[in-house]
Amino acid sequence: MIQPALHWFETVGSTNDVALDMARAGAPEGTVVVAGNQTKGRGRRGRVWTDEPGACVLMSLLLTPTIPLSAIPGLTFAVSLGVTTALKAASYIDPMLKWPNDVFVGNRKVAGILVESASAAGRCVVIAGIGVNANQRNFDPDLEDTATSLLLECGSCVDIRALAGKLSLSVLAEYERFLSEGFEITLERWRRYMWGIGESVQITTESQILNGVIRGVDGSGALLVSDKNGTLHAIHAADTIKTTRN
Ligand code: BTN
Repeated sequence: MIQPALHWFETVGSTNDVALDMARAGAPEGTVVVAGNQTKGRGRRGRVWTDEPGACVLMSLLLTPTIPLSAIPGLTFAVSLGVTTALKAASYIDPMLKWPNDVFVGNRKVAGILVESASAAGRCVVIAGIGVNANQRNFDPDLEDTATSLLLECGSCVDIRALAGKLSLSVLAEYERFLSEGFEITLERWRRYMWGIGESVQITTESQILNGVIRGVDGSGALLVSDKNGTLHAIHAADTIKTTRN
């Protein structure tokens, strides 16, 4: 089993960048970069990821899978599953996974995941970045209706260092299961936590705006949404997925 090696920083630009720099310098699989604050935190699809210094888990795991490039998107399911099961096991919350890899409590986001890949030191390197809203009480106005934190959900402060350790172990365990058992098994387990089945949503992709109802994920990991005519659409990437019910 891969043992995590955690490296702690006060402030960094992005833990994903620090982890990639360490990978380029030859750091081994299982290296984990954890920071108290990021000045250039980034989210998926070019978004900015902001944090309240000292109140969030901001971490990146270095993975070096020897799998085809086409299999790497499947890894995001393993990582988000690892985050979700760790948060559940720590009994803070009852987490769900909003496709593709946001961790939700009810209808609010508590954690986000950014998986990036690169070639470094002759290896395929995957950096799994994880941001958990842990001890925040307040959010920026643009997030206050959609974000939550572990503190707001469970009423008590979270030990961020302990949680980073638990998340590292859980994500690495899911990663190893993904490598040994395959994507289908990971996906089957991921589906148990899926948020929003039966939910009416508006999905914005690069090519369309689709109104429909979430039905599940197919065997490739695409989101299945039925429109008003009953036609099933497989969504492979989306900019936003917003609920349309009141
Ligand atoms: C998202 O939901 O858009 C993904 C957010 C990922 C944020 C984490 S925080 C640690 C790591 N470093 C980054 O710059 N981003 C990820």
